This record gives sequence, C-alpha cells and structure tokens, in this order.
Amino acid sequence: MGANKKVYLVDESGERMCGLDVIEGTEGPPVIDIQKLYKETGYFTYDPGFTSTASCVSALTYIDGENGILRHGGYAIEELAEQSTFLEVSYLLLKGELPTLEEKRDFEDMVLQHTMLHDQLQNFFRGFRRDAHPMSLLIGATGALSSFYHDSINVNDERSREISTYRVLAKMPTIAAMAFKYTKGEPFTYPDNGLGYVENFQKMCFGLPVEEYKFIPESVKALEQIFILHADHEQNASTSTVRTAGSSEANPFGCVAAGISSLWGPAHGGANEAVLKMLDEIGTSSRIKEYIEKAKDKDDNFRLMGFGHRVYKNYDPRASILKGTCKEVLGALGKDKEDLFVLAQELERIALEDEYFVDRKLFPNVDFYSGIILKAMGYPTSMFTVLFAVARCVGWIAQWNEMMRDSDRRISRPRQLYTGERLRSFVSIEERK
Ligand code: CMC
Repeated sequence: MGANKKVYLVDESGERMCGLDVIEGTEGPPVIDIQKLYKETGYFTYDPGFTSTASCVSALTYIDGENGILRHGGYAIEELAEQSTFLEVSYLLLKGELPTLEEKRDFEDMVLQHTMLHDQLQNFFRGFRRDAHPMSLLIGATGALSSFYHDSINVNDERSREISTYRVLAKMPTIAAMAFKYTKGEPFTYPDNGLGYVENFQKMCFGLPVEEYKFIPESVKALEQIFILHADHEQNASTSTVRTAGSSEANPFGCVAAGISSLWGPAHGGANEAVLKMLDEIGTSSRIKEYIEKAKDKDDNFRLMGFGHRVYKNYDPRASILKGTCKEVLGALGKDKEDLFVLAQELERIALEDEYFVDRKLFPNVDFYSGIILKAMGYPTSMFTVLFAVARCVGWIAQWNEMMRDSDRRISRPRQLYTGERLRSFVSIEERK
C-alpha cells in the first residue's frame, strides 16, 4: 500500500484548496485519502450507500465486479469452491494463508472442541414462540453468547479474541440447528465432534434421536460448497455493520448478532428466501413476462429477487457455480425435473434478453439458485438466510479481527448533510399553533 500520487481539489476560480494522497492497493481502483479534507477545506463528502467510498483497508477478499471476479487471499472462488473445504477457507480468511496438513488438523480440532453450547442456552430458546422466524432466534441466541462466554470478551486481548473467534465459528451451526429444531417442535440434537463441520450441521438439523441419520454425500458436498461461496464478500452491509459495531470495542458476539440482523433484509441475505417466494408466486413460465414487467415498472416496488448487485456488473461468479451445483444436486436427488429450477432458468434467460436488465447490468446473484438447492435438501425457506449467516460468520469474525488489529482503527462516526430547521426559540405548549 503506497501513496505516490496526489489529486488536488480546486474551487470554482481554479484556486487549489488542498492536495489529497492517492493510495494504491495491490489490485482494484486506487483510493483518494480524504481524512484531512474537512480539516483543510471545511467540506464533508456525501456518499449515501457508500458507492464510491472505501471504509477500511482489508487484505481478505478481492472483488472485481466488472469482470465477475471474487478471490479470497488471492485464490479464485472457483478453485476454492471446487477443491477446498469450508474450514480451509475459514483458516485462509482468518490467517491469510491456506493451512498445511498439520495446521488444518489443529484448526479443525480447535473448532470442533467448541461446538457445544452452554446447556442453559436451551432455556433461552424456550422463551421464543414456536412460530418465530429462525433468524430472530439466531440473532437473540448469538447476542446471548456474550452473557455465557464473558471470559473471552476482552477485545483488546489477542488471546481472548482468538477464543471468541473459535467460539463463533464452532457454535453458530449449533445455534442455527437449534433454531430450526425449535421451530419444528423437535428435540435438539447435540453436535457430534467426530463429524466434519458440514456433516455435523446436517445431522443437527435433520437427525432424530429415534433413528440413525443417513448422510446424502451429494447434499453434504453441495452444502460445503454453499458455505464456501458465502464465507466472505468484503464490505457488504452486514460486514460493515459488524465493523461499525466493533469499532466502539463492543464484544464480538454482539457485533455478529448485529451483522445477522443486517443480513436478514431482503436486499441482502434475505433475498434467498425472497427468491423462492417469488418463484412460487410466479408459478409457471407463462407468467414470467408479467413479473418482468412488474420489476421494470417504477410505480411498482417489486424487484426481481436474486438479480442485481451493487458491485457485480457482470454474472456473479458465485451464481454461476451454484447454477452448476443446482443441476448436479437435483440430478443426484432425482429432482432434476424440479419445476422451480426450470422456472428459474427460464426467468434468467428472459431477463438477460431484456433491454432493462442488459442496460443496468443486472445479472443473477448468489441468492438466485442457492434456495433451490437448499429446498431440495429439505430446508424450509425460513432457514435459507440462517444458512447464509452460518457461513458468513467466518467472514464477519475475520473482518472484525482484522479491524481490531489495525493500528489506524477509530470509532465509526459518519457525518451528515443537515437539512433540518435552523435555530429557533422554544414556544410554550399554550402558544403553539
Ligand atoms: N429488479 C429490478 N430492477 C432492479 C433490480 C432488480 N432486482 N436491481 C436493481 N434494479 C434497478 C434499479 O431499479 C435501478 O434502476 P434505475 O437506474 O432505473 O433507477 C438500477 O437497477 C440500479 O439499482 P440500485 O437499486 O441503484 O442498485 P443498488 O446497488 O443500490 O442495489 C441490490 C443492489 C442488490 C440491493 C439490488 O440490485 C436489489 O434490490 N436486488 C434484489 C435483491 C437481491 O437479490 N439482493 C441480493 C444481493 S446479493 C447477496 C447479498 O448481498 O446478500
């Protein structure tokens, strides 16, 4: 990272107001360092939605949205999805390198050591309504971890941060599976530390105490891939939420709970659930055109869910991988003629031929095909965003760790363009009109 160029801000008359350093990363657009802008000129910048703002320095994930590229630690997502495992990618995000065999074994042992929850957390779940959305249980139980594991919330202590990191990574699948079981009215299934991360999660979700759980290898493989594809995605809304919450030195469990809340929105991770609802509503290919027209109509707030992305102005690489996985899994499960998959492909085809979507560079995103796979595996739609959250936890906690190590870290405190009233005198209630 270096600054060897400057840009200058000039006023209307051409007079130089200040010089700002241009900082180059290893890849991607350079940034203009505006930290001293206000002090030197009295101006703030205005960028709602942060379309032109880099909020931090990060070495974890690189996205080139124009070319549909996503890499973690320099490795292409396609290679990671095909050849790696979720815990290996987690190690990469947390430590910056892929693990050696020995490192991988030690890391997996550490994660698996922490899969159980404090038993009293079960009582916490029982306070929720059975028909509650599992995302609300996930937010509550994750936040509650700070009251059960307060021995590891000294955020300025590196060892404490490390233990919290393992706890988040290890306990999130257990919490998610408990949320699922609770809303189904089935008994909780304890984790089985002899199983891999993804197998364990599948068993906790679908296993029953009365019978042996039989794994479907194709489902396990597909879920492993889904977890890898959702592990991190640089400074998206939920990750930025985690960083913002953490910038005040809040405890990591609370920060992750904040991230989960942000993820739930339909413009973000909640889109995978919304895609399935949309496909169900469309129902048949003959109604696709009608819904495309609705999505284009500015007086209608309907949007084509699973389409469009702030950064990708090309096919989301995760969506192309998942489309292939969808085909494979449905084939293996004997559901390849599944109406929803046929409908989704047809919807994609028609949208990508439509000028509206072409002009705005709106392509399928990661949420477009993931729900169809999860549904075929037996997850209800309400669990889709929960699964996204389980996988994204590692990204959140890795980004949080990176921020906590950053010597330039400051509390997040954006400013605003004030448009309210100027100073006026208080009017007593009797005199107000
Ligand atoms: N359907 C119809 N029109 C769309 C869509 C869509 N899905 N997405 C964007 N547009 C239009 C939008 O109306 C605008 O048109 P115009 O220029 O005429 O005003 C233009 O495209 C640019 O959209 P924007 O809202 O300014 O783009 P954004 O970067 O602020 O929003 C987005 C990105 C993902 C929130 C948006 O594309 C969207 O709402 N998509 C549907 C929800 C979705 O699939 N979300 C998952 C995102 S990927 C996974 C994740 O983040 O978790």
